[in-house]
Amino acid sequence: MDVNRSVLTLDEFTIQQLRDFPSATGELSSLLRDIGLAAKRINVEVNKAGLIDILGAFGTTNVQGEEVMKLDVFANNQMMGVLKHGISCAGIGSEEMDDIEIFDDPISNNSKYVCLFDPLDGSSNIDVNVSIGTIFSIYRRVSELGKPCTKEDFLQSGNKQVAAGYVIYGSSTMLVYATKRGVNGFTLDQQIGEFCLSHPNIQCPEKGKIYSVNHGNFFQYEQGVKEYITACQKKTKADGGPYTQRYIGSMVSDVHRNLIKGGIFAYPGTTDKPNGKLRLLYECNPFAFIVEKAGGRATNGKQRILDIQPKELHQRTPLFIGSTKMMDELDTYLQTSK
Ligand code: AHG
Ligand code: MN
Ligand code: MN
Repeated sequence: MDVNRSVLTLDEFTIQQLRDFPSATGELSSLLRDIGLAAKRINVEVNKAGLIDILGAFGTTNVQGEEVMKLDVFANNQMMGVLKHGISCAGIGSEEMDDIEIFDDPISNNSKYVCLFDPLDGSSNIDVNVSIGTIFSIYRRVSELGKPCTKEDFLQSGNKQVAAGYVIYGSSTMLVYATKRGVNGFTLDQQIGEFCLSHPNIQCPEKGKIYSVNHGNFFQYEQGVKEYITACQKKTKADGGPYTQRYIGSMVSDVHRNLIKGGIFAYPGTTDKPNGKLRLLYECNPFAFIVEKAGGRATNGKQRILDIQPKELHQRTPLFIGSTKMMDELDTYLQTSK
């Protein structure tokens, strides 16, 4: 059988990238490999989610007498497990954990990186077979090597990220990650169990026709946001329209689609929740990094997401992210209506 050796696996790709940096230690490659492994394990469980009624509901005991774990707890355990046992990560922060977890052991204390993640994003969609994802963000430690990592390592602004990425468990499973060198996407070849480079050098189109926002909150948005959404609805062919509204309610899927096709995704603040819903450190920062590296933009309506100095692990922020031309137009509405 012919083997297509022009297709690079995730491991091959990250190692190949290292060749350009003789001083690189390979720790980042190993970290990405660890995350890839967790993603494959999560993927297997996500694919079984439809069988839950047969196998037993979350929180109940299945036919083997084991407790069925909530999928986001399972995903969290997988991410934590690979990172703890790998050689590159000194500690983690997760949506599923109140505080950071410092891996205080001799190997981890000498690891260069810390990792923040949302183990399962869009988890309310699991029951209805809609795409969900995992989001991750990687920083180089600022604390002293040889000692346990500290909270400061995690509270760095997004522009200090070394790499960020996401996995989308969709009609195919993909891992997309960005470094300062660009954004690349890998599709899981289920037959060989490897992520293979399928989307090299992803660029976010400058213009798009998709806007993604929860219309149910419309009357709770600030004036400028309402005006922008209304402008999107009124677009005609003459001014680049008509636009299409697409909102899955699963950020990974919504932003992934817009990254590939061109578009804008927004989770603005509401009167009830002025900071919106999404978390800065493991939802907004990684996507802001990825989309910027692909040529797009991300703000909280006032400031670039990546410039926000985090104060707490679980802090929330409004988010506007996507194609530059659409972001520029949004800005004109946000500025003039103030
Ligand atoms: P999570 O499942 O990690 O809690 O995140 C869900 C998030 C995000 O994926 C999505 O964009 C947003 O919630 C949707 O929220 P609304 O239902 O309020 O629009
Ligand atoms: Mn989430
Ligand atoms: Mn989540």
